[in-house]
Amino acid sequence: MDPNDADNAGNAGVESDSWHILTGDINGCRLCGLCEARTNAVVGRGCQSANVLFIGEGPGEDEDLQGLPFVGRAGKLLDFALGGLMYPEDLYYIANIVKCRPPKNRAPTDDEAALCLPYLRRQTRLISPKIIVCLGAVAMRHIIGREHKITQIRGEWIERKGLYIMPTFHPAALLRDDNKKPLMWRDLKAVRRKAEEYR
Ligand code: URA
Repeated sequence: MDPNDADNAGNAGVESDSWHILTGDINGCRLCGLCEARTNAVVGRGCQSANVLFIGEGPGEDEDLQGLPFVGRAGKLLDFALGGLMYPEDLYYIANIVKCRPPKNRAPTDDEAALCLPYLRRQTRLISPKIIVCLGAVAMRHIIGREHKITQIRGEWIERKGLYIMPTFHPAALLRDDNKKPLMWRDLKAVRRKAEEYR
């Protein structure tokens, strides 16, 4: 997806969009089958005018129950990393490719992602971040394109229409493999440094 693409900015009139309208649209969404089993749709959390937008895959069980992204084990690790690197709370916002939990934590299908991405585009327009961080292969595939491998391009900056985009590991991958931690820490430090340029 092109995060800045106004033509694809979802079903609301772009000029008249607001967090209130967007949150209502997401909470009432029935565009795909994921709505059937959701407890809560998960819009996002963090500063709504942040310079950095983190994008994950989709809610898991904890997120579905609480209605917030990255509040389970992977999220706690992400918070630990951001806290350790002294990310100020007003620096970032966290959202997902899909807003409802895929069953058994499977990856969202391309159809589910395509139906949900207009919400992320609207969030991106409302936040107007300078930097987007794709957390893991699913976010990278839908934001940057499908021809890449996360292990090959993580940590690299991709510039699109004045937006800086960096793919890095999904925090859940770090729970399975400690060796990835220093690499992700390095990526998050680079993001922090670039974000400072805009403060
Ligand atoms: N994994 C994700 O990709 N997103 C969440 O919100 C939680 C876990």
